[in-house]
Amino acid sequence: MFLPVCTPTVPRNALAYTRAVIEANWVSSVCKDPALDFIGKLERGFAELTGAAHAVAVTSGTAALQLAVAALRLGPGDEVILPATTMIASAAAVAHAGATPVIVDVDPATYCLSTAIVTPALTPRTKAIMPVHLYGYPAEMASLLDLARHRQLRIIEDAAEAIGTRYRNRHVGTFGDVGCFSFYANKMMTSGEGGMAVTNDPVLAKRLRRLKDHCFGEPRFLHEELGFNFRMSNLTAAYGYASFEELPRAIARRSANAKRYIPGLAALPGVTLPPDSPDVVNSHWMVAITIDSERFGLTKDAVRQSLRERFHIDSRDFFYPLHLQPALQRQNANPQSLPVAERLWREGLYLPSSSDLTPAEIDRVVQALTTLHQEAT
Ligand SMILES: Cc1ncc(COP(=O)(O)O)c(C=O)c1O
Repeated sequence: MFLPVCTPTVPRNALAYTRAVIEANWVSSVCKDPALDFIGKLERGFAELTGAAHAVAVTSGTAALQLAVAALRLGPGDEVILPATTMIASAAAVAHAGATPVIVDVDPATYCLSTAIVTPALTPRTKAIMPVHLYGYPAEMASLLDLARHRQLRIIEDAAEAIGTRYRNRHVGTFGDVGCFSFYANKMMTSGEGGMAVTNDPVLAKRLRRLKDHCFGEPRFLHEELGFNFRMSNLTAAYGYASFEELPRAIARRSANAKRYIPGLAALPGVTLPPDSPDVVNSHWMVAITIDSERFGLTKDAVRQSLRERFHIDSRDFFYPLHLQPALQRQNANPQSLPVAERLWREGLYLPSSSDLTPAEIDRVVQALTTLHQEAT
């Protein structure tokens, strides 16, 4: 049977909660019945989970990033430093605001931003940095925070893929000014599409709420500033809250997946395991490895193709580096070669990682990789 990279788990209460909001006719972003206000429940629950003072539900992780950029008033003339190894949404949020993405390399140990990488890219125009916690593994936030404080920079954390990840015992997304999470179907929890912006700053929280709802004023149709419609619907939140209730299980299952994968993968020459550190509890959203073709005997591309065609196992390339994206050639202020991001693209692969993956399915993936390596060497 074909083994996909990720299949979402339909939460037990999804039907009951969505049915309840439909029957009561509270399907938009307004709900005056506290028992059925799933947006409020989801926001309060997510704030509690992350330890953030405020959580603002939005329509996607991309919307959360765009909202964060707008809330921090980043725009033309401002530079935002972000890593090359990430999804296009990180850079799009910056570019859509008219600010300039400065795309830099990633640390080979964490696959994320580090101060050593960010510092040479700083200019008088740098206003913010956007660490991306990749595949569930976080950036070194302690030193990035020091740097940001020292240089008076804002931090937007792209924690889209890192629900459940803790760094020095604190949930990622709560270190910077705004943390952005995605509830897309393959994420640790899902509302189908959806996202959350979190912050500890009450003024920013108010601004995020205003901006996500077109900055309605007083009187209502008077607008001092242009905002967005990034409002999550109560119908979406009902599904999302059902998924949120099962988050502890999802996090435990994905960590168990990684535990089962790691000994088998560690035995394969040329395979690098997901990053690890005593400072980090990795939620292991995806089990991400790299493959050194010399030592493994096959290139990453050949492995991905064989896994799919011979063993009916899906896998995914790491992100195509942002500095090479045709869509960003005009915007990127740092058109250099970025060797780590380019190597991660050549060598990086993530393996089936659904919360409902069985131990036998994990063993099947490891066995397939072992066979490929043995045949090639
Ligand atoms: C690193 C990263 N940032 C942002 C996003 C955007 O989130 P969404 O798909 O919910 O818009 C994603 C994607 O899923 C992502 O992987």
